[in-house]
Amino acid sequence: VTVSADDGPFGSATVAENYRRYLQPVIFEPWALRLIEFVGLAPGDTVLDVAAGTGAVARAAASAVGPGGRVIASDISAAMLAGVAEGADAAGAPIETLVCSATELAVADSSVDVVLCQHGFQFIADRTAAVREFGRVLRPGGVAGVAVWRGGVRMEPFDTYGEAMGELGIESGFGAVPNSRLSMSEADVAETLTAGGLEGVEVVTVSLDLRWASPSDAARGIAGTPFGAVVSALDDERREELFALLSEKFAGGGAPRQQRQTAVLGKGVARASR
Ligand SMILES: C[S@@+](CC[C@H](N)C(=O)[O-])C[C@H]1O[C@@H](n2cnc3c(N)ncnc32)[C@H](O)[C@@H]1O
Repeated sequence: VTVSADDGPFGSATVAENYRRYLQPVIFEPWALRLIEFVGLAPGDTVLDVAAGTGAVARAAASAVGPGGRVIASDISAAMLAGVAEGADAAGAPIETLVCSATELAVADSSVDVVLCQHGFQFIADRTAAVREFGRVLRPGGVAGVAVWRGGVRMEPFDTYGEAMGELGIESGFGAVPNSRLSMSEADVAETLTAGGLEGVEVVTVSLDLRWASPSDAARGIAGTPFGAVVSALDDERREELFALLSEKFAGGGAPRQQRQTAVLGKGVARASR
């Protein structure tokens, strides 16, 4: 799916298309390379990307495992999965898509070498049940790796999006979701992976500096977030007011605003005997 340059984020584009256009290249593709480096993939591996969204991890994994490997991109949203194979490495593994919940993976027992779940774990209501599913579909000795925003630090650009909406009195619809649901500590991640039955669990904290093409691109990224539907429903004047405020915040008075993201990466091994 392509969005033409003159069709702004609230023309005909959906939240999924705006995610792919603004957030995927700046946020999720750089994170995918870090998660894959942390977990480690071998040529020929079968990889399951859970909560794959628009496929940043699936495509990076397909390049890493090569033509002898296999990649399955799964997500609860068919709209997010729609363009997963776009831009995939022609010399990489084929990518299949699968619409299913992280807690009910439509994948056979002991059939994959690696499960990856990047910045989707926080949206899963029963994370321990999801980890048990990762363990079920992994072959004994296979590895699951997750990336989750780290709690207790600013979460850019999302905190700025929420603050700007608050300053303009726009109800984000996210007020009812405690921030603690959307981020985790190293201990939370380690405990969840262990409680879900994985062994040899390791966690690290990693930071990444975002490189937006412009402050207005950073502002437009809001259209690809869970705030997107609310922003889309605003009248044109109100929406322009929000974009102007966001652009001003991201421009930071001339110097590019520091946008560092921090995440916890965790991994664990599926038990040899189950
Ligand atoms: C922030 S996106 C991350 C997508 C992708 N992993 C990436 O790195 O770009 C979160 C994704 O989680 C998916 N999701 C949320 N809850 C889910 C669940 N219970 N099972 C499967 N996917 C879920 C959403 O549909 C969305 O695509």
